[in-house]
Amino acid sequence: MARQDRRYGDKFANMNTISSLSPADLSAAYAIEQRSHAFPWSEKTFASNQGDRYFNLRLDVDGKIAAFAVTQVVLDEATLFNIAVDPAYQRRGLGRALLEHIISELEKRGVLTLWLEVRASNRGAIALYESLGFSEATIRRNYYPAKEGREDAIIMALPLG
Ligand SMILES: CC(C)(COP(=O)(O)OP(=O)(O)OC[C@H]1O[C@@H](n2cnc3c(N)ncnc32)[C@H](O)[C@@H]1OP(=O)(O)O)[C@@H](O)C(=O)NCCC(=O)NCCS
Repeated sequence: MARQDRRYGDKFANMNTISSLSPADLSAAYAIEQRSHAFPWSEKTFASNQGDRYFNLRLDVDGKIAAFAVTQVVLDEATLFNIAVDPAYQRRGLGRALLEHIISELEKRGVLTLWLEVRASNRGAIALYESLGFSEATIRRNYYPAKEGREDAIIMALPLG
């Protein structure tokens, strides 16, 4: 994919670009992972979720990485494994812009369903997913470790096309 395949402005009139996440971007993306998630992936897990079967993207604000997404595509199904916006850039519409871009690219590739899994307590992310048309498919009880005990995972699906 071209390095800069989409340019647009956000609510703050910055210049944003979405492009492929390359191996050279991993340390900057992993820093966002650590800043944004209460339970970040290990660096090893982060590095292993890259490669041919992945459609991984970065979103830059004024030339600096501000968000990334990790999506695996297998035949006509895709799974959003991770999406994170740097805390300094959250609630500016970037998460929505990145997901809308992913959805439109997957539709062009003929993918029929986009799956994801989210902590039941992550109300902000769930609100974003629901606003894009995702709905709950199932719940995995006590799936994630939490600050106290464990918490449920909600599996959500979005039909594409
Ligand atoms: C979830 C996340 C990706 C959303 O990205 P974002 O750029 O902040 O979200 P947007 O600005 O595009 O928000 C779009 C909509 O989602 C909902 N939303 C997002 N964050 C929210 C929050 N903290 N509380 C309530 N609603 C929220 C709102 O409906 C929002 O629309 P609005 O701002 O017009 O009210 C971001 O908060 C993040 O990186 N969180 C930490 C990592 C994470 O939880 N990832 C998802 C699970 S893997």
